[in-house]
Amino acid sequence: MTNTKAIYEISENEDQLLCTRYQALASNTMDYWVNNSEKPQSMEILTSAISKAAVSKSSTLHLYFHIPFCANSCRFCFIPNERLRKNTASAQRYAESLVKQMKSMLELSKAKELPIASVAFGGGSPDRLGKEIGIVLEYLTNLSGFDHKTEVTCEFALNTVSNDFLDTIGMYPITKVSFGMQTLNEKIRKEMRLFPKPINKLKKITARLKEIAPIINVDIMTGLPGQTLTDVVSDVSFLAGIDGIDAISSHLFIPGESPVLVADILKGTLPKLPNHPMQAKMRLETYASLLRKGWMRKGINTYYNHQEIDPQAMEKINGNEVIPGGRYETFILAAGAQAVSYLPGVRLENLGDIEEWMESIEQGEQPYDLNSCSLAHQKDFALWHFPLKYNGITKELFQELNDTGAVSKDQIDSFHQMIDEGMIFEEENQYVLSLLGEVFLGHIVRALKSPGEGQIVDQHIKQGFNQARELANECV
Ligand SMILES: C[S@@+](CC[C@H](N)C(=O)[O-])C[C@H]1O[C@@H](n2cnc3c(N)ncnc32)[C@H](O)[C@@H]1O
Ligand code: SF4
Repeated sequence: MTNTKAIYEISENEDQLLCTRYQALASNTMDYWVNNSEKPQSMEILTSAISKAAVSKSSTLHLYFHIPFCANSCRFCFIPNERLRKNTASAQRYAESLVKQMKSMLELSKAKELPIASVAFGGGSPDRLGKEIGIVLEYLTNLSGFDHKTEVTCEFALNTVSNDFLDTIGMYPITKVSFGMQTLNEKIRKEMRLFPKPINKLKKITARLKEIAPIINVDIMTGLPGQTLTDVVSDVSFLAGIDGIDAISSHLFIPGESPVLVADILKGTLPKLPNHPMQAKMRLETYASLLRKGWMRKGINTYYNHQEIDPQAMEKINGNEVIPGGRYETFILAAGAQAVSYLPGVRLENLGDIEEWMESIEQGEQPYDLNSCSLAHQKDFALWHFPLKYNGITKELFQELNDTGAVSKDQIDSFHQMIDEGMIFEEENQYVLSLLGEVFLGHIVRALKSPGEGQIVDQHIKQGFNQARELANECV
C-alpha cells in the first residue's frame, strides 16, 4: 500500500487547531481592556488626566450607559439578578445618576466638542429602567454632539421588556435594538435557565420592534455545555430566516466570565463544554453560514443582512457593538456602576458597587475605583484592537505605529507570524482578519498586546478560573 504521508508536506504543528499555533479557542474575549498599570496616585491626578486628554483629528466620541441589572439569571452570565424596576424610584435614581456622571465627564473632557459617533445602552438589561430610560434619552438627544448620524443601540431582555420601556425608547431615534436568544435547543435552554419557547415571544414582538428601530439584532452563543455543531448551524439558519431579524451577534461562550457555571461542570452537574476542535468548527460554520446568506461582518462578532437594511441605518453602524474603541485617540465615556471609560492616556473604571457608585455621584464625588484605573498611554491600541474591527487596519496606520515606536518589535513579529499562519490577510491598502482569524479572535488580540500588558490580561483570566475551582471545591 502506498504511504500517502510521503506525498504531503510535514507540518510542525499538526496537533494545533486548523494549523494555527493554538490548541483551544480563547478562554476570554472581554478582558483585553483590563489595564491597571501606572495607577493614578489620587483622584485629583486622575481628573486632571481626563481634562488633559488630547483631541486630535483622528479622535471620535462614543458614549456608553451601563445598566447592570437583570431579572433573569442565565447560568453563563456574570450579571447578578437585580430586579430594580419593581421600584420606580430606584430606576429614576439610577437614570439620574447616569445623566449626572455623563454630564460631568463631558464637562471635564475636551471631547465634548466632538460629534457623538455612537451611543450604547448595555447591561445587564437596560429594560430594567422601564420608562425612566427616557431621562437619559432626553438628556442625550439634546446634547450638541448628537445628530442624525449618531448610532444608538439599546439592549434588553426579550422576556422581561415592558411596554413602558418600548413606548419610551420608541420616542427617540434608536438605530438598533438587541436581545439575547443564545440557543433554540430547549434542553440547553433549560440547563442554562433561559426562558422556554423564545420564538413565540419573538413573533409577538417583532412588528413592534420594527416601529422602534430599523435594525433588530439577536445574540446567540457557541460552545455552551452539551451544544453540538448541528445545534449551532440550525440556530443560525433559523434565526437568519426570520423576517425582521437583520443582525446576528454570535458570542463565543467565555468560561472565564462564568465561574459558577464552570464550577457546575467541574462538579458534574452540567454537561462538559464541546471539545476544542468542535468549538473551532462552531465558530467557522457560524460565520460561513452567514456569509453564504449574503450577510456581512460589521462588528466584532456581528453580521448584518445589509441588503435588506435601510442604507441610512446601515451607514450609521460603527461596527463596535457595545465595546467601542479603535485607537489611542478614541474617547469612550462610560457612565454606570462597573462601566469602563477610555480616553487618550486614561482608563477609568467606575465603582463596581451600585449603591456606592450612586452615592458617590449624588455627593458630587468622582465615582472611580482608583485601583483599577490607569494613566498608561496605550499608543499601541490600534494594533491589538484591530482584530475586533471589521475593516481591519490601514497600512498607513500600521506604518505610523511602527515609525513612532508605538509598537514593539515583538508585537510586529507576532503580527507577521499571523500573516504566515493565515489569520491576517494583506490587501492593497490594509490588513484584515481572515475568517480563520475571526475564529481565534481573542487569542489574536492577546498576542498583539505588549508583553507587560498581556500579562495583566492573563492574570485576570486566571483569577476567573481560580474562583471557579474554589467554588467547585467548596461545593464538593
Ligand atoms: C450581557 S447580555 C446583555 C443584553 C441582554 N441582557 C441579553 O441577554 O441579551 C449580552 C449578551 O452577552 C452574551 N453573554 C452573556 N454571558 C456570556 C458569557 N459568559 N460568554 C459569552 N457571551 C456571554 C449573551 O449572548 C448575551 O445575550
Ligand atoms: S438576560 Fe442578559 S444580562 Fe440577564 S442574565 Fe441573561 S445574559 Fe445576563
